[in-house]
Amino acid sequence: MLHAAGLRKTYKTPAGDVNALLSFEHSFASGQVTAVLGPSGSGKSTLLNLLAAFDTPTEGEVWFDDVAIHSLPEKERAGLRLRSFGFVFQSFNLVSVFTALQNVALPLGLAGVNRAERDERARQTLDRVGLLHRADHLPHKLSGGERQRVALARALANDPSVVFADEPTGSLDTANGALVLSALEEVAAEGRTVVLVTHDAALAGRAYVRLRLRDGVLEEVEREPSTELEQEPAISVPDPRRARVEAVPLASR
Ligand SMILES: Nc1ncnc2c1ncn2[C@@H]1O[C@H](COP(=O)(O)OP(=O)(O)OP(=O)(O)O)[C@@H](O)[C@H]1O
Ligand SMILES: [Mg+2]
Repeated sequence: MLHAAGLRKTYKTPAGDVNALLSFEHSFASGQVTAVLGPSGSGKSTLLNLLAAFDTPTEGEVWFDDVAIHSLPEKERAGLRLRSFGFVFQSFNLVSVFTALQNVALPLGLAGVNRAERDERARQTLDRVGLLHRADHLPHKLSGGERQRVALARALANDPSVVFADEPTGSLDTANGALVLSALEEVAAEGRTVVLVTHDAALAGRAYVRLRLRDGVLEEVEREPSTELEQEPAISVPDPRRARVEAVPLASR
């Protein structure tokens, strides 16, 4: 479980303080994709950087199970990122002189996994995203959609508990964007937490939970009706307001 409480991030700039995130509070459930939406500059990447232990909050707490991320020194945050988190970015961030396989194996190498095992795991993960046949290709010999699937395989190689994706479909066409989202949905269904920043309303509409940020403030939390229904009592009392709306003939609405 990933939990943020009273998070604030203020950047100090020569022109004055920028409050990029204010009083943010949310628990990110595992097994689900949570989409983070909001206009440019609303604090989405700032939030992701705090949750993913890239940066420390000005105020507030981030908990990953019983680990207090907000107060970990950088060396331990780096270790946590390697062991427990995976990352996907809009620009893929693949190493251009490494093959697809070497790119996927990279975080495993950093985490100290030996060569034979990391090659085997990288192959398995590439296979998962349907790209084993492209293992020896350099990134420039892959399509945009393929590059992002390699990046996703790299994010999954260390079997992370949480996958963070910042605009992962921003450079892709609709079909490839949908493929990447389907892969992220599968990743969540395996019991992982997926935090997805996106401008794409259609993709966000498929998420179980949608968080809307505006000017650094969490304005709205929307949940899928199906997740709310599960929490309702087995026998529900008819809602008289709903009954009245339904009684109005369609033509006069
Ligand atoms: N390192 C920084 N120093 C100063 N200000 C920053 C820094 N990073 C972000 N900001 C400011 O904080 C605010 C939130 O930025 P952030 O990058 O989180 O927005 P975003 O919602 O991810 O936007 P986009 O959709 O364009 O990626 C913006 O006003 C931005 O200019
Ligand atoms: Mg951003």
